[in-house]
Amino acid sequence: MRALISETQISEKIAEVAARLNTQGKPLFIVVILKGAICFASDLIRKLEIPFELEFITAKSYGMRGTKPGTLSLEGIENLHIHGKDVLLIDDICDTGKTLSHVVSKLKDLDPKSVTTLVLLEKRTSRPRPFKPDQSCFQIEDLFVVGYGLDYKESYRGLPGIFTLEESI
Ligand code: IMP
Ligand code: MG
Repeated sequence: MRALISETQISEKIAEVAARLNTQGKPLFIVVILKGAICFASDLIRKLEIPFELEFITAKSYGMRGTKPGTLSLEGIENLHIHGKDVLLIDDICDTGKTLSHVVSKLKDLDPKSVTTLVLLEKRTSRPRPFKPDQSCFQIEDLFVVGYGLDYKESYRGLPGIFTLEESI
């Protein structure tokens, strides 16, 4: 396993993101995509000084299939009361962009004032993407990564930084 991004690099970046949101001063309705974004979101919200509401939705595309995406299933979007609100959608990683483009279009059906997307990681890829996140904390190579909430077959979510398993699978 090879280390890509350290705990310190992550926390410095989160402090920058939080400072920017705090400066904007806008109350937010934060929607976190489980399970991968759990560490990112829980560290970020503790740095926020603005009012916010917090809700979770679940998106599954990998499951026990490991590193090959399967069919996307979403849960919990219908119950969000985001009408007229500024939504900040948080995910762990943007790879194909399928998850975010799907979730954003479902959120927009609920008539929020705005939807902004924030991801911890964005894979650099030459493949065309249906979606570009508004903000990515780190650009990474097109490798399968784990740690800090991200899993391989439900393992490694508790690692404090981001690692790649690429060489070993
Ligand atoms: P996308 O729909 O292809 O952009 O993939 C988004 C979802 O797949 C993310 O929310 C992750 O949960 C998962 N995913 C994509 N790439 C990785 C990876 O390298 N490691 C772990 N999970 C990943
Ligand atoms: Mg995810």
